[in-house]
Amino acid sequence: MQLLLVYFIAILITCLDAQLQLVHVFFRHGSRTPELKDIYPTDPFNAETFAPMGYGALTPKGQNMSFKLGHLLRQKYDSFLGDIYTPDIVKAYSTDFDRTKMTALLVLAGLFPPSKSQKFNDKLAWMPIPYHYDKDPYDYTLRRPNAYCPAYMKELEEVLSSEEVQREMKANRDFFKYIAEKTKKPMNTLGDVFGVYQTLNAEESMNLTLPEWAQSVYPEQLHAMAAKQCNYENYNTVLKRLNGGRMLGQIIKQMSAKSRNLLREKIFLYSGHENNLINILAALNLFKPHVPKYSAAVIVELHQNGVKVLYLRDVTSEPEVQKLEGCDVLCPLDDFIRITRPHVPGNYTAECHSHVNLD
Ligand SMILES: *[C@@H]1O[C@H](CO)[C@@H](O)[C@H](O)[C@H]1NC(C)=O
Ligand SMILES: *[C@@H]1O[C@H](CO)[C@@H](O)[C@H](O)[C@H]1NC(C)=O
Ligand SMILES: *[C@@H]1O[C@H](CO)[C@@H](O)[C@H](O)[C@H]1NC(C)=O
Repeated sequence: MQLLLVYFIAILITCLDAQLQLVHVFFRHGSRTPELKDIYPTDPFNAETFAPMGYGALTPKGQNMSFKLGHLLRQKYDSFLGDIYTPDIVKAYSTDFDRTKMTALLVLAGLFPPSKSQKFNDKLAWMPIPYHYDKDPYDYTLRRPNAYCPAYMKELEEVLSSEEVQREMKANRDFFKYIAEKTKKPMNTLGDVFGVYQTLNAEESMNLTLPEWAQSVYPEQLHAMAAKQCNYENYNTVLKRLNGGRMLGQIIKQMSAKSRNLLREKIFLYSGHENNLINILAALNLFKPHVPKYSAAVIVELHQNGVKVLYLRDVTSEPEVQKLEGCDVLCPLDDFIRITRPHVPGNYTAECHSHVNLD
């Protein structure tokens, strides 16, 4: 009886898997050293602490996490992807940063360990799989739109100078003053505080002991402030549309093509930063203010009977199912497209008021 049940469940799982058609994964790079631009004058740690990696670089722990993310994806999609790597089933993209490129390589290494027939050397359980990126100044998809979408920048400035935000800044004046005094760095914007959070978070991930002053404000208070900045970057429909909406439109295009059998890929990987996860979640109205952790991932699955969104908070936890407002967990593609339409730009170049063609 029990054996029969196990058998039945196994068949059920196989059937459900057979209905999977396409997977999109957005992930943050693994843990890293602090970035030079975020370092503050009184920081007890310096270039020596971060050697030999240097600033803003993936640490060995971060490498381990990235590889593990690839491994988790392999476990999850093993039967869907099959044992043999062929170039048409995966497309990997990265931002133009060493740490995200390295992360892309490691996720690919974990996701596509070579089968016996594809191994080119017995001593190496790895095979080369390419990823793609646009040079930073020409990256109009994964990079923050601040740099190339004037309409986005204008809207964000309006939000940040709005009465509501200014009131909030005033209410936290003592906190800003405290951070500025301790770091000897001016704290005029939420973005400045965000930078301090990022540095402390990076140092914590390296097991460094944070200075005394930081222990009363990190992580809770600083994280809450950093999360506000993330939230404001996607505060209204215009911002969501010009930010993550861009990528959402691309995902929808790819899912639509797949559902009509016009796409060969099975999985798309996007190796980026915390904002790449925030923006796609926000465009789906699924973002709750927080800073995504290193190696966190947002997964969008297209099944024969609908779209499912998952959020992997870190590589030690289980992915959490995200339910779109007004739809089931498995949201029929047509409904998914209808519900998200307000956040998908029609003509991005035109909506951005950009003189450069962004398409
Ligand atoms: C890397 O990760 C594996 C499991 O994912 C763990 O067993 C191992 O200890 C890690 N190594 C380092 C150096 O952190
Ligand atoms: C940091 O400390 C934890 C807990 O003591 C340990 O498991 C881990 O290996 C350490 N990681 C690094 C990068 O030193
Ligand atoms: C989008 O808008 C730009 C700028 O207004 C225009 O040059 C371009 O032709 C438009 N593209 C499409 C596909 O309509």
